[in-house]
Amino acid sequence: MQLPKLTPLQSRLLASLIATCILVVIWIEFQPKYFVYAAELPSVLEDGAHGQFGQAIPPDDANIPIIERIREDQSRGEEAQGSSGYSPILEADRGEEETPQDMGYSPDFAYFDRSLIGRAPQSVVVLTNNVKKEEDSNPGTTRNFVLEKSQLRARRAGDISERGVGGEVDGDHEDEVEGERLEKRQSGTQVWISANTCRQPLPNTPIITEQDSPQLTLWISNSTRNQKPGPSSTNDLAIAPVKFQGGYANFTLHTTSDIFIGVSAPLLTDGWAGSWHFEVAASVDGYYHSYHEDETFLFMVDTDSESALFITPNITANNDTASIDKWKNMDPFPFIMYTQSNNDWGPMTGMERSFCALQVSMTQETNTTVVSSITTKFGEWPINSAKGQFHVQGLKNGTAYQGFLAINGTAQGLEIAGKGIVRNGGQVWRQFNWTTKAEDSCQVVFGLGFCSDVAYAVPSSSQYNFDSLVALYDKQAEEYYQNFTNSLDQVACDTTGTAQYSLARTCDDCRTDYKTWLCSVLMPRCEDFSATDPWLQPRNIAVPFPNGTLAYPQNNTAVFNTTIRNRFAFAQSRNSMIDTVIKPGPYKEMLPCEDLCFDIVRSCPAQLGFSCPNEPARSLTYGKRREDVLTCSFPGAVVDLNVMKGGAAGRVVEVALVAAVTAIVGGFLWI
Ligand SMILES: *[C@@H]1O[C@H](CO)[C@@H](O)[C@H](O)[C@H]1NC(C)=O
Ligand SMILES: *[C@@H]1O[C@H](CO)[C@@H](O)[C@H](O)[C@H]1NC(C)=O
Ligand SMILES: *[C@@H]1O[C@H](CO)[C@@H](O)[C@H](O)[C@H]1NC(C)=O
Ligand SMILES: *[C@@H]1O[C@H](CO)[C@@H](O)[C@H](O)[C@H]1NC(C)=O
Ligand SMILES: *[C@@H]1O[C@H](CO)[C@@H](O)[C@H](O)[C@H]1NC(C)=O
Ligand SMILES: *[C@@H]1O[C@H](CO)[C@@H](O)[C@H](O)[C@H]1NC(C)=O
Ligand SMILES: *[C@@H]1O[C@H](CO)[C@@H](O)[C@H](O)[C@H]1NC(C)=O
Ligand SMILES: *[C@@H]1O[C@H](CO)[C@@H](O)[C@H](O)[C@H]1NC(C)=O
Ligand SMILES: *[C@@H]1O[C@H](CO)[C@@H](O)[C@H](O)[C@H]1NC(C)=O
Ligand SMILES: *[C@@H]1O[C@H](CO)[C@@H](O)[C@H](O)[C@H]1NC(C)=O
Ligand SMILES: *[C@@H]1O[C@H](CO)[C@@H](O)[C@H](O)[C@H]1NC(C)=O
Ligand SMILES: *[C@@H]1O[C@H](CO)[C@@H](O)[C@H](O)[C@H]1NC(C)=O
Repeated sequence: MQLPKLTPLQSRLLASLIATCILVVIWIEFQPKYFVYAAELPSVLEDGAHGQFGQAIPPDDANIPIIERIREDQSRGEEAQGSSGYSPILEADRGEEETPQDMGYSPDFAYFDRSLIGRAPQSVVVLTNNVKKEEDSNPGTTRNFVLEKSQLRARRAGDISERGVGGEVDGDHEDEVEGERLEKRQSGTQVWISANTCRQPLPNTPIITEQDSPQLTLWISNSTRNQKPGPSSTNDLAIAPVKFQGGYANFTLHTTSDIFIGVSAPLLTDGWAGSWHFEVAASVDGYYHSYHEDETFLFMVDTDSESALFITPNITANNDTASIDKWKNMDPFPFIMYTQSNNDWGPMTGMERSFCALQVSMTQETNTTVVSSITTKFGEWPINSAKGQFHVQGLKNGTAYQGFLAINGTAQGLEIAGKGIVRNGGQVWRQFNWTTKAEDSCQVVFGLGFCSDVAYAVPSSSQYNFDSLVALYDKQAEEYYQNFTNSLDQVACDTTGTAQYSLARTCDDCRTDYKTWLCSVLMPRCEDFSATDPWLQPRNIAVPFPNGTLAYPQNNTAVFNTTIRNRFAFAQSRNSMIDTVIKPGPYKEMLPCEDLCFDIVRSCPAQLGFSCPNEPARSLTYGKRREDVLTCSFPGAVVDLNVMKGGAAGRVVEVALVAAVTAIVGGFLWI
């Protein structure tokens, strides 16, 4: 290697540089080991202006030695930087509990960077309020962290403004803050500690996957007698060790002292290999990472053989455009939805509660895609709040899946109406299971131009894709509706007073109810022919399945022909276009709810001659609502993933059946 040629000036500069370095090294060698040894100082020195913790505020002169010591440090060439807005505070309440340097963590200047002072033991990671620390961990090892008590006050500066999220600061609010301060004085500051596993050891044989995957353990001590809590240092723990569940652990405590945290990794049993990666955070505002065991925060709208549609409950309190647009404009999209097959070991197995693991899994190669958006559909139109909508595509037919929903938080805290604030570490809801349809005769549609409330699986066939299917149905519905409004216009509709056909209902109600009913009967809610729920009605059974077999091949008896094969209700669809154009093969229909029919009879002028069929025809044509399960189709119907339950937009219908005439309006649609 060739050395660069130096000019005389450069070589002189180099020489003096080397000399300076040597001098500095010698100087450091002669320094006492500790710049500041704080053991003899009496107690916590509070920021006098606030005195929040209520300890005796030390006399003025108590500050002098500290400031002098700091100056002394600086004059020796240390660059100590106080965090702006705080006066330098010396942490010194360890008294007789002072431990030797090699025991681990030792007292220090708050707000001074340890790397500058150079005394922090390498094995203890210093946590900052609301900032996560990521670490790797090998089997059988423990990682240690400390949250210094100076961090417990971090909230003070932003106290009012932070609490003001989503609401103004009024008198009551200040009382509340004041009450909280009093509480703090009595019991210390509340600290929330949470951890997420991002990566874990993997099974190296397929057999082992039935065992629970090995989980980390969280250890917490708030005593200086145990500064490195873990399996080998179990004295003075603040709580019994918390084992991670599904890659998540949390704990909250009130304290006035430093908090020492350990995260230990178990030894691996046979069949497992690898190490962990995890993150830990402590906050005085609430859990940095959170997990909700009590709900899935998601409804399933419907599924077909390769996709599924989900929506969340309301995420805005009302239909105010500004709050809806705020969600629509969020970048990156805040919700994360991930799915994996229920049968195999998947990237999320064993880390179901970890946002960090979800973020990692999301980036892995899968054949499923999730199209996410914010929607205002699925509610009592027009007063709709925003909701998250997820269309999961690329699934396999007849397969059980696990779904994971999470939301990314923000540093300021992201507010979900009625659900609280999500912080940086994200929030995960309970996972849920669902199964895709086995047959290819149904397809989930949503977002139609005319039948805008339709969002479920409709009869389909392989020759139609999403767009062509939607266009076909929607155009037909619009045509029927046009003919209906032409008829309605001939009725004395827009008159007032005594000429009006009803004081309670108007022609607008009639139009709305007709449209709802029309869309529901033209686009039946479709299920697999192999589905066995008793409220499902077989349709189109006379034609063979796409693979050529018949739904009822062997039965050629006369009784079968008259009761099933040749009956309109079984042999055909309500909408003949389905049988003649779409040709889905045999399928089952979830019948529209009978209240959709009652509504038109009630709302529309009698001249139009609407009525609902009587039994026994009615139960072949309309379904009855039930509280516990979705038994009939109506706009906005969803499946609750917590309990199988119908009707987020459920309405109680108490209308007596008006007439028994078999109506001919709409012709074939009625039977
Ligand atoms: C963790 O958080 C959940 C919900 O916030 C809470 O119910 C649970 O008790 C917490 N666990 C611990 C050990 O504090
Ligand atoms: C340490 O934690 C325990 C349990 O939460 C609490 O009772 C105790 O007051 C804490 N000690 C200090 C010094 O904060
Ligand atoms: C959702 O919001 C709408 C309008 O703001 C409201 O009518 C509806 O009851 C809400 N739904 C739930 C489940 O809270
Ligand atoms: C979560 O939000 C942070 C900050 O906005 C961003 O850096 C990160 O990529 C987001 N994660 C996901 C999975 O969207
Ligand atoms: C994706 O689909 C292809 C073809 O069906 C299959 O070979 C591959 O294993 C799938 N990948 C995953 C991650 O499921
Ligand atoms: C919002 O809701 C109000 C009733 O609370 C309703 O009058 C209004 O039409 C709705 N606006 C939109 C855009 O849906
Ligand atoms: C998925 O569809 C294929 C072809 O239609 C069929 O052979 C298979 O049995 C279906 N799988 C399940 C689990 O139903
Ligand atoms: C989902 O399926 C998995 C695997 O079969 C099972 O362990 C889990 O309990 C199921 N979850 C729910 C909510 O049913
Ligand atoms: C609408 O009415 C016109 C004229 O009576 C008729 O030709 C057409 O077929 C009707 N359309 C539907 C979809 O019934
Ligand atoms: C044809 O398809 C139907 C419905 O998917 C199924 O039940 C039947 O077993 C299939 N027949 C053959 C011979 O694969
Ligand atoms: C019943 O219908 C099938 C198929 O159309 C036919 O082959 C059979 O002869 C009929 N049975 C009787 C008794 O009519
Ligand atoms: C044929 O259908 C009738 C009426 O549903 C039923 O009673 C009979 O058992 C069936 N016979 C066979 C062979 O499936």
